[in-house]
Amino acid sequence: MIESVIDPKERIALDLEEARRRTTDLLAPVDDRRLMAQHNRLMSPLVWDYAHVGVYEELWLVNQLSGTPPMNEGWLHMYDAFENPRATRGDLPLMDRRQVGEYRDEVRRRALEILDKADLTSSNPLLRDGYVYEMVVQHEHQHDETILQALQLLPGGYCPAVPTAPSGRAVTLDMVSVPAGQYPVGSERHSPWDNEGPAHEVELSAYRIDRFPVTNGQFWEFMEDGGYTRRELWSEAGWAWLQTSRVTAPKYWGLEHGEWLSDRFGLLVPVEWDRPVMHVCYHEAEAYARWAGKRLPTEFEWEVAASWDPEAGRTRLYPWGDESPTRERANLDQWLYGPSPVGAYPQGASALGCEQMVGEVWEWTSTDFGGYPGFVAFPYAEYSEVFFGPEHKVLRGASWAARPSVGRVTFRNWDYPIRRQIFAGFRCVIDGEA
Ligand code: AVJ
Ligand code: FE
Repeated sequence: MIESVIDPKERIALDLEEARRRTTDLLAPVDDRRLMAQHNRLMSPLVWDYAHVGVYEELWLVNQLSGTPPMNEGWLHMYDAFENPRATRGDLPLMDRRQVGEYRDEVRRRALEILDKADLTSSNPLLRDGYVYEMVVQHEHQHDETILQALQLLPGGYCPAVPTAPSGRAVTLDMVSVPAGQYPVGSERHSPWDNEGPAHEVELSAYRIDRFPVTNGQFWEFMEDGGYTRRELWSEAGWAWLQTSRVTAPKYWGLEHGEWLSDRFGLLVPVEWDRPVMHVCYHEAEAYARWAGKRLPTEFEWEVAASWDPEAGRTRLYPWGDESPTRERANLDQWLYGPSPVGAYPQGASALGCEQMVGEVWEWTSTDFGGYPGFVAFPYAEYSEVFFGPEHKVLRGASWAARPSVGRVTFRNWDYPIRRQIFAGFRCVIDGEA
């Protein structure tokens, strides 16, 4: 393989460049006015994310590694996610696209200079094996998905050219059995994010889990059966949310002349019934599960169904094995700008038989975001630890909008249970054996 003969520093430089190129490409079609404006309190102005990833890069790859002060102290504060919550980022005197571009070029020039002299075998855990570089790359990868959530909300639409999704195949929307047992979960191998470790074992009772994500067609049946009006299907928090939000369908769905359409980046398309449902919040997922006589999986039930290989007696890095994602294995990396039909990725099946677990949509789990036993925050508590608690639910699996670096089965995402602008859907489980 060519990859293995590339010098590690050259590899890092290429990854940094590729991450930058994707962000720049995503924003290129957006005119300056719409790039600078805040269009929705849920999302930052696009240009804030663009600069924020640069400030993060300067902080970790320049300031932290060389001990030099930031180029502009004010930017460090303006683009700090905690000092400036999303809702008020539109009021800041943000850099424009050209300023951000010049700033980011200068940061990169300095970062590469430091990389050139860096010792990647150092005992400094930031440098060892290029840890901090991978962290900065994956940080930018995650912000690309955030940018896409904002682009989906962009007034006037974004309307990317979307390639045709692979076709599904005739499938039965059945369930896969997972026997009771002691299973390994989590990872140490997959730095950078601290919340995936320590790896440990969990005890699971037997369960069955949906082979596919819940489809638009299945969710429509829930709607038709009064799903949004039946109190008994909703938790107390879910019902309270429903009363104030008055939601009656997934976000971006609209009924026109008796036909359900969905808004895909500004383009209205008929709802595709055989594709995973997307833009539903945790409460809607939970209500659907109750309606179906099922429940949402815990994050470990999800992870074991995705990772456990009973024949090999070990876990895989991805549902299909240890090999990197490809277009044949998963719908990732913004290739399709939306989910594919169920059955479109037989090559991406997990050993236990679940399909489309990675890619398509983030999947809500019933687990509150928290630290694994023995969790240690590294290298900073504001990545995960400050979000631990019952107010956030764990999402697993990665969406079509996630870069492949996010697609490993141990990756943990989290959000508030009311969030619908994220590219999230779900699948369900039932206790016991078939
Ligand atoms: C893991 C997606 C919840 O976007 O808030 C970006 C990732 N952390 N910058 C987020 C993240 C810092 C994070 N999520
Ligand atoms: Fe960030």
